Amino acid sequence: MSTALITGTTAGIGEAVAQTLADKGFDLILNGRRLERLEEQAKHLTKTYGIKCHLMHIDVRDSKAVSKYFSDLPEEWRNIEVLINNAGLAAGMDTLENGDIDHWNRMIDTNIKGLLYVSKAVIPLLKKTKGHIVNIGSIAGKEVYPNGNVYCGTKHMVDALNKAMRRELAESGIKVSSVNPGAVETEFSLVRLDGDEDKAKNVYNGFENLIAQDIADTIWFILSRPSHVNINEIIIMPTAQPAAGVVIRDKGL
Ligand SMILES: NC(=O)c1ccc[n+]([C@@H]2O[C@H](COP(=O)([O-])OP(=O)(O)OC[C@H]3O[C@@H](n4cnc5c(N)ncnc54)[C@H](OP(=O)(O)O)[C@@H]3O)[C@@H](O)[C@H]2O)c1
Repeated sequence: MSTALITGTTAGIGEAVAQTLADKGFDLILNGRRLERLEEQAKHLTKTYGIKCHLMHIDVRDSKAVSKYFSDLPEEWRNIEVLINNAGLAAGMDTLENGDIDHWNRMIDTNIKGLLYVSKAVIPLLKKTKGHIVNIGSIAGKEVYPNGNVYCGTKHMVDALNKAMRRELAESGIKVSSVNPGAVETEFSLVRLDGDEDKAKNVYNGFENLIAQDIADTIWFILSRPSHVNINEIIIMPTAQPAAGVVIRDKGL
């Protein structure tokens, strides 16, 4: 059985990817900071799909915890073939001038440094399996939008790292791909807007946003190509979102 490690599986895109890969028969290493959700998820996936799950109850920003987790990882879980670098967030939406430095640090530490720490630890294992890394970027890593400054910056870095990994790892036979979504309704806006449910709901009003399963289906398409085919990157948007920060509302789209 193949093993996949997905970061940030307790909600949203990561949760949908975990379900999709479980359905395809992967054993899963599940990651997130909310232990109760991880335990529930592992129980559900094991029962429903007959796969094995191993928990990675770690904050990806903690470089020491990440490196210890992988040096202690039991032999039976070291055969990782797929790494989905998904854990990430946006915090706040303001001009640079009015930006909150704690928000900036959370985004930089999670979206960039967390992705780096996990990748550094997992790449040696992927070299043995000639595995596949899928980095979850964003349309914010391809364009910028007003008040998106630091989040866009972190996702531009993910875009650069995606290209850098592909250049560096090609000789090892490791595939590297990215998926760059527009608006997907998950807990993303709730987190970004400091838990304000009304404001978060409004983000998705008046148009048909993407859902997490759209991204999971795209990731499965990428992973299921024949061995000579690497999908470098995909940008996937709601039909009503022609560009970052632009949404056509109330037109039935
Ligand atoms: N939703 C969108 O519109 C959208 C668009 C483009 C790109 N993206 C990207 O897609 C990825 C997933 O976002 P989502 O929309 O699914 O958001 P979400 O519903 O808020 O899920 C985020 C996941 O990341 C985990 N996470 C956050 N910080 C973490 C940390 N420090 N350590 C470990 N896990 C952490 C969360 O788990 P815990 O809280 O339990 O730790 C959660 O499982 C992110 O990289 C995001 O930037 C989202």
